[in-house]
Amino acid sequence: MLILGVLASGRGSNFQSILDGIESGFLNAKIAVLITDNPDAYALERAKKHNIEALVLKPKDFPDKNAYYSHIAGELKKRNVELVILAGFMRVVGKELIDRYRNKIMNIHPALLPSFPGLHGQKQAADYGVKISGCTVHFVDEGMDTGPIIIQAAVPAYHDDTEDTLGERILKQEHRIFPYAIKLYSEGKISVEGRKVIIKGASKDAVLINPPYLFQ
Ligand code: GRF
Repeated sequence: MLILGVLASGRGSNFQSILDGIESGFLNAKIAVLITDNPDAYALERAKKHNIEALVLKPKDFPDKNAYYSHIAGELKKRNVELVILAGFMRVVGKELIDRYRNKIMNIHPALLPSFPGLHGQKQAADYGVKISGCTVHFVDEGMDTGPIIIQAAVPAYHDDTEDTLGERILKQEHRIFPYAIKLYSEGKISVEGRKVIIKGASKDAVLINPPYLFQ
């Protein structure tokens, strides 16, 4: 069973989708700990409800960014966490954590990367006037939303979309593809070559015509 550590800063709906995936038996995984940088994060309520250990770790309580992320890495290692999930963790993760979990940290981003990285991907896409947007699950590297892409899902974007209407459409897909990416990882089906992620069993045709992980 894959041991997960989740980092979240806010409402935690992606965290919830992973909890649901585990509880329904879709995911053969266990969440060892939720770590948040925000004492008011609704994710904390969700952790409590599901009996998940939760830690509030605030960067300002540490001398610097290095100390903060090496402490987080230590807490994760202590609990034998194998895969780290950034579920709306609103910070650029420090090198200490990335080095200790290279290609073992997944993030969800609310846009089709490499378009619209950084904050408010939904608003950036709506304001730009794209016709298709979506979400991306990727491994985390030192850059801002630049790591190898694991799965993407696309949604239509309309001329009268706002950050909220587009965001809601994207969020539904986030809740589908994040648990799916974790499932593939837990089954040993994901490998990384350079910046490309290879998914075992997904033939080229399957990916082009009907990605099984996008359209069930
Ligand atoms: C999501 O839109 C995710 O893509 C982004 O932050 C938001 C987190 O939402 N990284 P939630 O806390 O999971 O509900």
